[in-house]
Amino acid sequence: MKIPIFDIKAQTAPIKKLINKAIGRVINSGAFILGDEVSKIEQKIAAYCRVKYAIGVSNGTDAILLSLKALGIEEGDGVICPAFTYYATAGAIARSGAVPFFADIDPRTYNISIDSAKNILKRGKKIKAIIPVHLYGQCADMDEIIALAKKYNLKVIEDAAQAFGAIYKGQKSGSFGDAGSVSFFPAKNLGAFGDAGCVLTNKAAVTEKMRILRNQGASHKNKYKHIMIGYNARLDTIQAAVLSVKLDVLNKWNKKRRDNAEYYNRKLESTNLVTPYVPSYNKHIYHQYVLRARGKKEKIVKHLLLKGIDARTYYPIPLHLQPCFKYLGYKKGAFPESERCSRETFAIPVYPELKKQQMDYIVKTIKEAIA
Ligand SMILES: Cc1ncc(COP(=O)(O)O)c(C=O)c1O
Repeated sequence: MKIPIFDIKAQTAPIKKLINKAIGRVINSGAFILGDEVSKIEQKIAAYCRVKYAIGVSNGTDAILLSLKALGIEEGDGVICPAFTYYATAGAIARSGAVPFFADIDPRTYNISIDSAKNILKRGKKIKAIIPVHLYGQCADMDEIIALAKKYNLKVIEDAAQAFGAIYKGQKSGSFGDAGSVSFFPAKNLGAFGDAGCVLTNKAAVTEKMRILRNQGASHKNKYKHIMIGYNARLDTIQAAVLSVKLDVLNKWNKKRRDNAEYYNRKLESTNLVTPYVPSYNKHIYHQYVLRARGKKEKIVKHLLLKGIDARTYYPIPLHLQPCFKYLGYKKGAFPESERCSRETFAIPVYPELKKQQMDYIVKTIKEAIA
């Protein structure tokens, strides 16, 4: 049996007609850049996330970069982010001209460690912002982060790339900070048919800047008058139409992912694998279902792959040990929890279209590997 980590064809099949119709609408309109379709999905996303504004952009990485720029982060400013996340979080910080300051993670949730962030801030560096990442689909401890931000006068950008629709204490991810960045990369819970992303915010001034920044820094009144050094970072109109169809199904998909995760939790209870820890105030959307195997991970993953199950490690190299961030001067051992998670964790398929029979096969194969 072959089981991919994510099955986009199975996801698309039941909504293909609606998507074709939506794409056809854009083709017939002849408008492929911004326009009504983009405004419509922005409003729909803002309502879904319960924020005042959503700004459609080219991808989740640019969503972070544009947020940093719109919030006034400047060359040489320090920005805290976790060492255990996808490259793009810190890549965007570096591309903005700011300096990434890595914090370790909480080994239970895999999200940023508040103590580690506090240690950086106590050292009195020129830190201007913090980017908590809602890794795998559950929110970081936003109350603690907002309290830190108030104390140290930091801007907060939530990297909600993996957590669109996740809930923390009754509030949607991406709606806590000054801005929230989202990725609609095809494999995300809400995925486009190519690259796409958006920024969430409750601030009118940030929204205004962001709309200018994403569109080459051009004034709304005169498109050949460039009032900022901007980017070509608009959300494609065709992607907006695709996202609009998919957003209507997202709650159903996210629920199915949660059900699948609960099924795995029950079936793996008798093993010594660590299943995801979800504090009672969090509603996880399981972009990834990640297990932790002390000492046995390589063996389990190898066996799963051999049996046709696409198990993956997100992420095998923490950011402070990535060659591209060598210039920041971190050494091995700097963030022990991040390093341990890189060695010990792995993700198994949890996508909504998984069948019970496939999940049983995955569980059986994991148990075989442990035995
Ligand atoms: C945590 C995190 N941040 C940022 C990104 C960047 O998103 P995109 O691929 O849409 O640029 C991703 C996407 O994989 C991600 O997982």
